[in-house]
Amino acid sequence: MTNRTLIFGKDGQLGRAFQERIGSDPKVLFLGRQECDLSDLELIRICIEQFSPDQIINAAAYTAVDKAEDDHKTAFAINEMAVAEMARYCQKNNKKFLHFSTDYVFDGYKLSPYVEEDVCNPLNLYGQSKLAGERAIQRIFSGNDHGHAQDLGGAAFFILRTTWVYGDGANFIRTILRLAKERTELKVVSDQFGVPSYADWLSRLSIILLSSGDIPSGIYHAVPAGKTTWYELAVFVLGCAKEVGVRLKLDPDHLLPIPASEYPLPAKRPANSILSTDKLVKNLPSAQSLLAEDWQVSVRTYIHELRSKGLV
Ligand SMILES: NC(=O)c1ccc[n+]([C@@H]2O[C@H](COP(=O)([O-])OP(=O)(O)OC[C@H]3O[C@@H](n4cnc5c(N)ncnc54)[C@H](OP(=O)(O)O)[C@@H]3O)[C@@H](O)[C@H]2O)c1
Repeated sequence: MTNRTLIFGKDGQLGRAFQERIGSDPKVLFLGRQECDLSDLELIRICIEQFSPDQIINAAAYTAVDKAEDDHKTAFAINEMAVAEMARYCQKNNKKFLHFSTDYVFDGYKLSPYVEEDVCNPLNLYGQSKLAGERAIQRIFSGNDHGHAQDLGGAAFFILRTTWVYGDGANFIRTILRLAKERTELKVVSDQFGVPSYADWLSRLSIILLSSGDIPSGIYHAVPAGKTTWYELAVFVLGCAKEVGVRLKLDPDHLLPIPASEYPLPAKRPANSILSTDKLVKNLPSAQSLLAEDWQVSVRTYIHELRSKGLV
């Protein structure tokens, strides 16, 4: 990286993707929970000031969607308060801040792809906490934090909303592969639409974005091309697993589509999580080919990688 970069969330799926892509670089500092617990705002300040970065990437988040329903305090501490602390440093010191958000800020009732300006109405507490984080960043960068107008200088923020992230960690694809080795029948939800986003794909996009000088601050939707359902994704995953010679107990004919109503979870999920990427395509021409890549490309690569690492 050409700029001093502080990356929070080093042990998450996205954080690991950044580590893989960037490797060891004296200008980049990765911090995980052990080095900086994000529930400690004073510690966040100290860590940031000690490294004095030109840009911060926040790949950390409280992502336990169902657990969040009973853990309001922690979800907001990590997804709002900690994020605000990072944003304050960047705004005050004219630095760049890259943060990630989610389709869960929407209720999913729209019948076409969501654009950045659509009204947010989270169905669950995780979504509420992520929305609070987005709003804190916007408030701070608009100079309205504590009601004081501030010099905006060269400060910039980018909030990338993405969906269905998978990478080095627990995720839907790995769950399906595990269950397909253990079971002879599997029911998967077929009435929720979204786009699987590979953490490595997101790290590539992020690096393009941060190295582009002229993209305006704001919220951007960031997902690969195409759309799918959890059920169709599971079918595709089993096909890729077969390609690389994984022995499965599950016959693909015994993968059964079910409505979400038959798979109740503590937190409600949106039925439509399709995000339009038109704004990002327009503002970041150098990422056009990456954004045009179908989600299947990365899922196939991922399963081939899992196989070659002996993880499936
Ligand atoms: N996963 C998805 O399907 C999805 C979908 C849409 C958007 N997103 C967003 O994409 C981003 C990346 O998600 P991901 O899938 O990479 O998440 P992840 O794998 O769950 O990683 C989140 C990281 O945040 C860290 N973290 C949580 N609480 C912390 C604390 N108190 N102090 C320090 N670190 C803490 C976790 O640390 P530990 O490893 O120590 O627990 C973990 O390494 C997040 O902003 C998420 O909201 C994710």
